[in-house]
Amino acid sequence: MTRPEVRIYEVGPRDGLQAEATVVSTDAKLQFISLLGDAGLREIETASLVSPKAIPQMADADELLVRLERRPGVRYPVLVPNRRGLERAVDAGVDAICLFTAATDAYAERNIRMTVDRSLATFAPIAAEARRRGWWIRAYVSAAFGCPYTGEVDERAVVSVSERLLRLGVDELSISDTVGVAAPADLGRVLGALGAAGIGSESVALHLHDTRGTALANVVTAMELGIRCFDASTGGTGGSPFAPGSAGNLATEDLVYLLDREGVRSGVDLEGILAAARFISGALGRPLASKVGRAGGWPS
Ligand code: COA
Ligand code: ZN
Repeated sequence: MTRPEVRIYEVGPRDGLQAEATVVSTDAKLQFISLLGDAGLREIETASLVSPKAIPQMADADELLVRLERRPGVRYPVLVPNRRGLERAVDAGVDAICLFTAATDAYAERNIRMTVDRSLATFAPIAAEARRRGWWIRAYVSAAFGCPYTGEVDERAVVSVSERLLRLGVDELSISDTVGVAAPADLGRVLGALGAAGIGSESVALHLHDTRGTALANVVTAMELGIRCFDASTGGTGGSPFAPGSAGNLATEDLVYLLDREGVRSGVDLEGILAAARFISGALGRPLASKVGRAGGWPS
């Protein structure tokens, strides 16, 4: 197989499902993850090892990880917020974790009940332990393009937290438009500031929500700026419970359709993603949120 030019990092089972009102059964989640693997995805974020009081939809994470059939060559990262999450990750036998903080204290405090400084102090020993175990580590910088509590976000705040996370030894940053406010000029501003600070596209992924319909325009711009990893959620589900008004993630099917038409290889099969999208919309009991999910591919 030719090497993919762009990595699609699937967040449907985690970011997609965490804010849905309908709780999806562990069986259905496992089937969804299996269908995502069938579609060719090689990075599937499966769960969060967070407080079940904070995110009830992830309360079955330990059971899910025990039952998960890991396919060779597929990475199944899980979110870890603190030492307790790390212990659960060790017990579950994972080899890839995601730390998560934000560009603003206000967002971090609502989401993980820590300031940004406190979150970095919490993550330092977790990242060290994960590195010792040879795990892959990603870190989310939420609210990087706008904060639901404080408004516009200065790109210098994004650069500062990104530098500090990289110093902890994380492999990849996911620069996140949690509320879905960014337009292409914002991408240029934030990615430009990261680049000027020496943080190149090889360590940056982009996490977009399509709240205001700008996600695909942002993808095209980001590719021109050298970004080669995009987060997406099959079925266009998602939205942070801590980001009022945020809508679904960029839908994987919308992203795959765009990349296919642009001739950019991702290794992901649109029909396979559409099958997984139909499955999860059935489990949630609601129509698909994505455009390509509704219209289908073309030519059909
Ligand atoms: N897994 C399971 N339970 C956990 C936990 C973890 N990783 N971390 C803490 N808890 C439990 C504690 O045992 C305690 O339970 P109790 O009330 O029954 O005694 C409770 O959660 C509070 O613990 P505390 O350490 O005081 O945490 P907190 O209230 O300050 O909350 C977080 C901090 C990070 C645990 C919590 O805010 C959280 O899980 N946030 C996740 C948010 C999220 O996933 N957002 C979406 C992703 S972007
Ligand atoms: Zn998100």
